Amino acid sequence: MKIVVGGTGYVGLVTGTCFAEVGIDVICVDIDEKKIDNLNKGILPIFEPGLEALVIKNVSKGRLQFSTSLESSIPGADVVFIAVGTPPGENGSADLQYVIDVAKQIGKYMTSYGVVVTKSTVPVGTALQVQEAIHEELKTRNISIPFDVASNPEFLKEGAAIDDFLKPDRIVVGVSSKEAEEVMRKLYKPFLLNGHPIIFMDVPSAEMTKYAANSMLATKISFMNDIANLCEIMGADVNMVRKGIGSDGRIGNKFIYPGIGYGGSCFPKDVKALIKTAADNGYSMQILQAVEAVNEYQKTVLFSKLNNRFQGSLKGKTIAMWGLSFKPNTDDMREAPSLVLIDSILAAGGKVRAYDPVAMNEAKHIIGDQIVYCDNEYDVLLKADALLIVTEWADFRSPNFERIKELLSYPIIFDGRNIFDGKEMNELGFEYYGIGTNNN
Ligand code: UDX
Repeated sequence: MKIVVGGTGYVGLVTGTCFAEVGIDVICVDIDEKKIDNLNKGILPIFEPGLEALVIKNVSKGRLQFSTSLESSIPGADVVFIAVGTPPGENGSADLQYVIDVAKQIGKYMTSYGVVVTKSTVPVGTALQVQEAIHEELKTRNISIPFDVASNPEFLKEGAAIDDFLKPDRIVVGVSSKEAEEVMRKLYKPFLLNGHPIIFMDVPSAEMTKYAANSMLATKISFMNDIANLCEIMGADVNMVRKGIGSDGRIGNKFIYPGIGYGGSCFPKDVKALIKTAADNGYSMQILQAVEAVNEYQKTVLFSKLNNRFQGSLKGKTIAMWGLSFKPNTDDMREAPSLVLIDSILAAGGKVRAYDPVAMNEAKHIIGDQIVYCDNEYDVLLKADALLIVTEWADFRSPNFERIKELLSYPIIFDGRNIFDGKEMNELGFEYYGIGTNNN
């Protein structure tokens, strides 16, 4: 089998590399020449645990190639994945121009039957637009080549992408012909060996599945953040409540961790897009609107605690920050709650010293020299008036508390991810503020 993957972002690069890993010939295509040059040299545009080694290995085996040309890659491909970006466009809807661009090129250069698969998260109805774009091009060429369009949403998480791809909970594929179903079943066969299911359905349902999954997860988080805020008011501890409800199998113990709001490239964008799709079609997604509102509020919660503690006068105060990325094991800063926090502290006249194990370069691009970047989690504390824990990197979970106390001007910790236990922290001599705990 030969496959082509259009787009070498998170999804495209992981998809292409993992298919190559099971022995399939893969060409990953991107219009960004510098990116492709680098990938051919084994230099990756993103940090993702395990990905670099897999890219280098599969390139050296000749199964994984990188190219800037769809024209030379598409002829003879059995499957072409469209995995280009769908950035938020006007009013929160996903911008489909890159998806349609690739579709047009597929129509221009295809030579034999193939399945065109949308892998990017695209609104319901996009596969139909892709089909039309390809048809148009074939008409212009005055030629008739059969093809199918399928929808195969990706559920991988940044930081765990390789594992998620190689050992998926499930693979969802929307198809409209038996032939396409067979091609997709054959393609995914190597990933189904351990009983992971492949679920075939119609195309719109597959497109909707992705949005419903991300929206449900975002809902769980916002729900818990709401409960956490109420716990504080009522003197309850959300850590206990979380354990209490999470042990109910119907609720489950995953994705019920309160914090400082969800971020990243998927949840904020997909929740917005689904609200927009509904609105465009005369329906109001009331729960999701609340999910968004709670998330916006939650990004302000840690700042409010800090500001209250210093009686509204952060002017001249130095605040240390552990973590910048939107979650651990990634350098992704998109929609990171740290950005909102930094803006608020700077606007209040405070100074920020920050450290993140891998997102420092990304952060410098976005935040610039408005804050001080430090070499490690201890440097950051030097003469700071308080420590904020923003991202729950494993590196921060078992620190030298005595050293923290020595370096900070005051032993105050605001823990936006509840990585420490309030009572233990008090015993160690810290003034400690968590999210939704009664230790505040
Ligand atoms: C998500 C989905 O999990 C994935 O299936 C989809 O393909 C893309 O979107 P990702 O954005 O990489 O993946 O991150 P994820 O691990 O899901 O975390 C998203 C956000 O939720 C992070 O900001 C994280 O800190 C936050 N979160 C997660 C919580 O605040 N509490 C939780 O209990 C879990």
